[in-house]
Amino acid sequence: MTTVELSGKVALITGASRGIGYGIAEALLARGDRVCITGRNEDALKEAVEALGADRVIGVAGKAHDEAHQAVAVERTLEAFGRVDHLVNNAGTNPVFGPIADLDLNVARKVFETNVVSALGFAQKTWHAWQKDNGGSIVNITSVAGLSASPFIGAYGISKAAMDNLTRQLAHEYAPRVRVNSIAPAVVKTKFAQALYEGREEEAAAAYPLGRLGVPADIGGAAAFLTSAQADWITGQTLVVDGGIFLKAGHN
Ligand SMILES: NC(=O)c1ccc[n+]([C@@H]2O[C@H](COP(=O)([O-])OP(=O)(O)OC[C@H]3O[C@@H](n4cnc5c(N)ncnc54)[C@H](OP(=O)(O)O)[C@@H]3O)[C@@H](O)[C@H]2O)c1
Repeated sequence: MTTVELSGKVALITGASRGIGYGIAEALLARGDRVCITGRNEDALKEAVEALGADRVIGVAGKAHDEAHQAVAVERTLEAFGRVDHLVNNAGTNPVFGPIADLDLNVARKVFETNVVSALGFAQKTWHAWQKDNGGSIVNITSVAGLSASPFIGAYGISKAAMDNLTRQLAHEYAPRVRVNSIAPAVVKTKFAQALYEGREEEAAAAYPLGRLGVPADIGGAAAFLTSAQADWITGQTLVVDGGIFLKAGHN
């Protein structure tokens, strides 16, 4: 077993029982943070806590948009670790595929509730409970879908663009104590994105100048940087982590 020197910092990461959130938890644990992860499925969350290391990780089950869950997650993090320096708003949803002309508005509301309003709720609660007096940072996981028109996933793209503006708004209001940035990934190999590459990964990867799809560790590395002292003069930015796909015509 490798011993990691503790950083003294604590991060709350939403939607982290698998995929990108889990990759971010691994990256922050590797540099010595203690971490609270959330997710809806309690069993999956327990398994993730065990796999990541229950000595430095706790799990709080719940739906990201549920305000009571947001409050409990922040409270439990403070009880367990005494602080909550970093918030990573990673939980997100993309439940529909099709033209927005026919989009069910209740589905649009759900997408906004889960992706945008949840991130704001967690950002309010960590601010009042810890960050306004003690500082820290926030990273919102958005998407390249929020940076241009995204055919057939319009509601998702609009919600991610709103999160990028939420990032700028929070960065302005929470300065100088708290830095707030976004990471906008292209396709990262997770359950969420599986349909986009399953059975055709080589073909999908060929579209990327860097020759491969993303993996959760790519986003973990970016989140570790943005929540570190190396990024101390960076706030309100969206860091595109996309294997270069945005360099291509039609992607900008
Ligand atoms: N993968 C990509 O290509 C890609 C690209 C750009 C942006 N993103 C963004 O990255 C984030 C993570 O996606 P991912 O690919 O890692 O997805 P994933 O593999 O499906 O993992 C999602 C994680 O979030 C949890 N979760 C889902 N909905 C939740 C909710 N309403 N409340 C609380 N937890 C919830 C899931 O656990 P439970 O199911 O148990 O709740 C799971 O732990 C999302 O915001 C997504 O929009 C992904």
